[in-house]
Amino acid sequence: MSAPPTTATGRARLSARTLRTDRWWLPPLATFLGLSAFVIYGLIRTFMNQWYWVPEYHYLAPFFSPCLSDTCIPGASHFLGTPFPLPSWIPPPVIVLPFVLGFRLTCYYYRKAYYRSFWVSPPACAVSEPHSRYTGETRFPLIMQNVHRYFFYAALLVALVLTYDTVIAFQGRDGGFGIGLGTILMVINVVLLWAYTLGCHSCRHLVGGRINHFSKHPVRYWMWTQVTKLNSRHMLLAWASLISVAVVDLYVMLIAGGFFADPRLIN
Ligand code: FES
Repeated sequence: MSAPPTTATGRARLSARTLRTDRWWLPPLATFLGLSAFVIYGLIRTFMNQWYWVPEYHYLAPFFSPCLSDTCIPGASHFLGTPFPLPSWIPPPVIVLPFVLGFRLTCYYYRKAYYRSFWVSPPACAVSEPHSRYTGETRFPLIMQNVHRYFFYAALLVALVLTYDTVIAFQGRDGGFGIGLGTILMVINVVLLWAYTLGCHSCRHLVGGRINHFSKHPVRYWMWTQVTKLNSRHMLLAWASLISVAVVDLYVMLIAGGFFADPRLIN
């Protein structure tokens, strides 16, 4: 990946494309491939519109949670019922996915990642970009990235629903308590999702912003330090939670489709 010299206002005018000699193109390329793979998987999975509920163990695929349409598989709408009727050709995830995707797309980390890897604007530090103008996020449509703080509230609700999904996945064959490999994967997924969501910059501002004296707000200060720890690993958690969502979704699909049986630890 290479870029021509830039004449953009406010950017360094380099006669060379870059003076960097390392493999600066590797991180944006890896990001491009990783995000593309996730988007392609998500589209296929959404429009597949089947194999997302395992009634025996109460496993619900995260792409289909909460399942709020009357077209959902019976039993899969265990949260809030089915308040949104849809034509049968529209898959249920179209109700919730815009909020989940909106949260990820406007995330500060993902913004940096896809500006670099998809827009090459800029592709990396000290590498000139192909665009002649640079307006940052000061104009439409990118000024809409400011709605991230509102998507954060929606993401909190989705994390709560997925937590509920995980609790009811402690279900055995006879309806009692049970643990399978799917349960463990769902627990890991929901922990990573909470760590990513609570490490959000908007959350950090929410718990610790607009305070002049931390000493007068010890509880908020403690919360702010905890969120800051997560926030410092935000990139790692963004990828870990993205991968864990896809892995759990794929796992539930394979179990629901009868490709193999869920290994059970208890019942
Ligand atoms: Fe990444 Fe809010 S900044 S989720």
